[in-house]
Amino acid sequence: MCLSIAEEQLIELAKRFGTPLYVYDEKRIRENFGEFRAAFPGAKICYAYKANTSLAICSILRQEGAAADVVSQGELRMALKVGVKPEDIIFTNNAKTKEELEFAIDSGVIIDVDSLDELNSISEIGKPAKISFRVNPAVDPKTHPKIATGMKDSKFGLHLENDIALEAYKKAKELGIEIAGVQMHIGSQITDMTAFEDATKKLMDFVLQLKESGITLKFIDIGGGLGISYEGEDTPKPKDLAAKVLPIIKEYYTKIGYESELWLEPGRYLVANAGVLLCQVQSVKKTPYKNFVNVDCGFNTLARPVLYDSFHRIKVLGKKGSEETYDIAGNICESGDILGKDRELPAVEKGDVLAVLDAGAYGFSMASQYNCRPRPAEILVRENSVEVIRERETWDDLWRGETVPDDLNK
Ligand code: LLP
Repeated sequence: MCLSIAEEQLIELAKRFGTPLYVYDEKRIRENFGEFRAAFPGAKICYAYKANTSLAICSILRQEGAAADVVSQGELRMALKVGVKPEDIIFTNNAKTKEELEFAIDSGVIIDVDSLDELNSISEIGKPAKISFRVNPAVDPKTHPKIATGMKDSKFGLHLENDIALEAYKKAKELGIEIAGVQMHIGSQITDMTAFEDATKKLMDFVLQLKESGITLKFIDIGGGLGISYEGEDTPKPKDLAAKVLPIIKEYYTKIGYESELWLEPGRYLVANAGVLLCQVQSVKKTPYKNFVNVDCGFNTLARPVLYDSFHRIKVLGKKGSEETYDIAGNICESGDILGKDRELPAVEKGDVLAVLDAGAYGFSMASQYNCRPRPAEILVRENSVEVIRERETWDDLWRGETVPDDLNK
């Protein structure tokens, strides 16, 4: 099991709190953060809130010393709410609204600028802002195309080519806007370290170019993206990433003539393997072609398999062996709603509790009420207690804020 929570305890939690249920292991989250901290001593580790924005989880990471990478006014408000200091928050997004920019400026966070139009919007607001620019290093991170973000044709960042990013920095300087740093994020679930190396070289080359143009930076942010092992295979750890990128950065510091802070933005690595999604088998159906295990959650609860064809290990709690091949079918009325295909599992029966592993990142944060299903509860397993950190939604939550014009009630 990837968690330090025993299978019997998970079955007990499913009984006590109902299913579907997200369960997180506090100890594992702290350990994951510790791995990053040890691998990158002195660096600012900005937890990417989008991976899991539950306040308790963000608070654990804040206690460990995490800064925050946020992508919307909502995430920014979450980071402030859990007590992250404004100077430890970087706000990245390719389409920030004027209202979001103003809120970010007033809050005193770093705005990671994605376009010249955005730079102009900041200048038009006319209040002192602190910025970095997101640059596009044009590398292929060899991950799922939907989550590769620093390719030459990606929508994010200012390209290094044709001095596009360089001109943007000069423009910011001309406008008198405080330049704090540079940022990139090349993609997510990256397990091949080559793209990190290539992108870091390109980024450091650019920092050197900036220095030659009289622009120095407080920080260099190499983004997030370190993958995890969804299939149980060996994948690089924070220390392996550090072994690749830190020597490059150090070498450049000598050429550049000064050292800046190093920032990182891990999301998935910190929380993915600390969470499981529990669901219950409602029926087992054998067809002439396939065996289906029908469970009480679907892609409204965990969107990753449908969106990215992602693989999550699935365990039948309390049972061992691999006797039959099943498709684990979600309860959403679409044929694509399969949580796991062709899985060899012990004989599954109605009532069994299944655990979908590594569901702590991009699980609940991407959940919806599609098909009018209230979103599940979230549970935190602590050293000496179990806490409900988010209650299961109620039927009222399904129609909260809706209005039916009077004549339609007749
Ligand atoms: N920084 C920025 C600017 C990002 O856009 C992201 C993720 C991260 C950091 C954190 O990346 P991580 O360390 O978690 O890989 N929903 C997808 C993942 C989307 C990631 C988007 N950006 C999934 O379930 O695989």
